[in-house]
Amino acid sequence: MCGAPMSTVGRVGAVSVTSFQRERAQKVRAMRRRMRPRYASTHGAGRIRQDGPVTDPAVARDALFDPGEVRGLFDRMSRSYERMNVVASFGFSVRWRRQLMALVPPDVQAHRVLDAMSGMGETWSRLLRRFPRSEVAALDFSPRMVAHARERSRDRFGGRFHVYAEDMLDSGLPDASFDVVVSAFGLKTFDEEQSRRFADELARILRPGGAFAFVEVTEPPNPVLRRLYDCYLSRIIPIVGALLVSDPVEYRMLFRYLRAYGDGSRSERALAEHPALTVTRHELFFGCAVGFSGRRV
Ligand SMILES: C[S@@+](CC[C@H](N)C(=O)[O-])C[C@H]1O[C@@H](n2cnc3c(N)ncnc32)[C@H](O)[C@@H]1O
Repeated sequence: MCGAPMSTVGRVGAVSVTSFQRERAQKVRAMRRRMRPRYASTHGAGRIRQDGPVTDPAVARDALFDPGEVRGLFDRMSRSYERMNVVASFGFSVRWRRQLMALVPPDVQAHRVLDAMSGMGETWSRLLRRFPRSEVAALDFSPRMVAHARERSRDRFGGRFHVYAEDMLDSGLPDASFDVVVSAFGLKTFDEEQSRRFADELARILRPGGAFAFVEVTEPPNPVLRRLYDCYLSRIIPIVGALLVSDPVEYRMLFRYLRAYGDGSRSERALAEHPALTVTRHELFFGCAVGFSGRRV
């Protein structure tokens, strides 16, 4: 299936005998039109092909990590992110969020906990199970993700989460204001330099002795597993995205971030080389995800 050209999808149209099938075939055709290379940004020196091979990797990389592009991407994905996140990870995202909480050292005094790059608060139930008595806050810079998160805080958690609509790399959070900072799947959209800024900010907002834990998806080292995983994310997920939520281009972008993130070594380097942080790396499910845990010294 993964080696098959995308055009095989068009055969759906040939069997459209009911209105349901006709509708489905139209959706697939529309998806294929949307998946053709398009020029969506003029950031940097030239126009950037958003979903195909890129001729100038430096320009493409710039756009990939441009904060405005990242914010826009998550704004557009906010309608469907939660559902697709579970599908895209084969349900592993649920397990990895659980493992995230277990990575926080058990002896930390967690009076104030921050969920960084919180999205719509997908980790919050787990977070409250792990820190039932803590004061909890979240931060994200996508206005739509934040709007959903605030709604969720109000409707499901009695307004317990204060949600900051801020850039994690340039926030107004006070120095040493958190005992614990966690984040699920929030690191891959930081390039090398942004990862270092993130480490600086983490060291600034954590109190001495405070702890952090992060999880992120990675490319597995096993070539067979990596091929299957790549194929699933680059081919199957955009189709599922189109059928379920009609935004395949956005879900193809996730694959590009995963590719660029590789084994997560740039996050590891940034955390490990920061003089005020200690970090341990944890391989999760044969390297399909990575965990980082550590402390502010
Ligand atoms: C893949 S989602 C993860 C959402 C959630 N943590 C989860 O468990 O699914 C990444 C989130 O990070 C946010 N984000 C990316 N860069 C950010 C930054 N510099 N400051 C704040 N939020 C950021 C995006 O808006 C998006 O909501």
